[in-house]
Amino acid sequence: MKEDIKTPEDINLLVTDFYAEVMKSESLRPFFSTLDWEAHLPKMKKFWRFILLDEAGYTENVTNKHLHMHLTNELFDEWLLLFHRTVDQHFEGPVAELAKTRASLIGIGIQSKMNLLKD
Ligand code: HEM
Repeated sequence: MKEDIKTPEDINLLVTDFYAEVMKSESLRPFFSTLDWEAHLPKMKKFWRFILLDEAGYTENVTNKHLHMHLTNELFDEWLLLFHRTVDQHFEGPVAELAKTRASLIGIGIQSKMNLLKD
């Protein structure tokens, strides 16, 4: 039986493993290839601690950060598939479910704001 996501170390594992998977994906890798990882990974860890562990202090508008990128529904599907798979690989429980739900909802929010949800 797997444990749920409970500690900052759990978030570190989730984020690190997820981006390792992203970088194996031919379609997603180009978006991250020039990224400053020393800056990006701490931001993502802080974001997920805020969402999943109720840590205060994350104030960025996540949707707006993506609006300039050339994203498609297929790219969102791929991102979410990898995220859900990484969560399921390590964790089980209500917080793990919340992680997947929140990622999907934020994905839908970004797609909606980009007018990608046509039907
Ligand atoms: C096709 C799907 C996606 C791609 C290619 C993508 C790509 C990126 C990239 C390249 C950045 C770095 C932006 C920068 O610092 O210049 C970023 C930031 C971020 N993304 Fe995504 N993203 C995707 C979907 C999502 C989804 C579904 C979520 C939902 C949780 C998400 C959450 C975030 C967060 C929290 C940040 C950090 C914002 C900050 O604090 O600066 N992304 N994304």
